[in-house]
Amino acid sequence: MDKLISNKGSTIQSAVPESYILPPERRPGVVPPCKTIPVIDLQGLDQDPADLIQQIIKASQEYGLFQLTNHGVSEELMQDVLVVGKEFFELPMEEKERFYSEDPYQNCRLKSSVNYDKEKVHFWRDSFRHPCHPLEDYIHEWPQNPARYREVFGSYSIEVRKLGLLLLDLICEGLGLEYGYFGGELSQGLSISINHYPLCPDPSLVLGLPKHGDPYLLTLLNQGHVAGLQVLKDEQWLAVEPLPNAFVVNINYMLQIISNGKLKSADHRVVPSSDAAARTTVVTFISPYMDSLIEPAKSLVNKSSPPLYKSFRFIDFLRPYVTDGTDVEKDPLERFMA
Ligand code: OGA
Ligand code: NI
Repeated sequence: MDKLISNKGSTIQSAVPESYILPPERRPGVVPPCKTIPVIDLQGLDQDPADLIQQIIKASQEYGLFQLTNHGVSEELMQDVLVVGKEFFELPMEEKERFYSEDPYQNCRLKSSVNYDKEKVHFWRDSFRHPCHPLEDYIHEWPQNPARYREVFGSYSIEVRKLGLLLLDLICEGLGLEYGYFGGELSQGLSISINHYPLCPDPSLVLGLPKHGDPYLLTLLNQGHVAGLQVLKDEQWLAVEPLPNAFVVNINYMLQIISNGKLKSADHRVVPSSDAAARTTVVTFISPYMDSLIEPAKSLVNKSSPPLYKSFRFIDFLRPYVTDGTDVEKDPLERFMA
């Protein structure tokens, strides 16, 4: 529990503790807001689906990330999860305590940073994470305080899952894969992580999350109104501006592999803020089953386009993540290159 930043109280208001200070070459520097990150309006689906699919594929090739507006998840629900997520982190420590765990296999888990006991420098983030699908298998493990937690996150997880599966269908069509390619076990996993980045007295010295790609299929991030997310494109960091009620969607490693490199997983990171409010975000990950076979789709592989990656079971990729053993400086794709 002492490892949580949200548990350090007033000791972090004046100075960044030594163990969070990055060496100068790893500090984030100044990154201006970027106006070129694609914004896709899902209402376009009714008028010109082919054009919308092209926008999604293009953004997923060039940036690996886009913002999605008019996506059908209500503004109320988008706001509610942020409010209730924030309320969870504001609960007294005794309330949150039973979710805190150093055991990476615990389903419903409150933790701090990335690999707290293994990393050289800690990251300015606490997170609370749990699986969500099928809801009836997991909801009884979720918090009952805040009182609306189960109701709000239950509805949200169902809505966001529907939206994610729709996006995967559109991506499937855009890649020219057989209908329903992502509909089965490749997309049956669902988890939500509430990330909490407390105010930081000097954000230039730290990171909320280091550079990483998400190891699943697709991520839908509800980042609220406080900036902090940055995406790497052509070796430049670009700041992803908060758009009211939009999702930030990013392509994950498994989608890069299945598309045989046609779509790019976006490397991203988070800087905490010093002057606005603390930053609380709600991240939804769609993922394969642990034992799903992952490989470049057969129809995308031929003589002129040989497979770039090996075939493997998803758990073999995920193991370092579930055991808290990832090395943030290493490229996790390397082991799976053909
Ligand atoms: C993540 C992530 C971004 C954010 O949880 O993998 O990249 O803004 N989160 O919280
Ligand atoms: Ni991420």
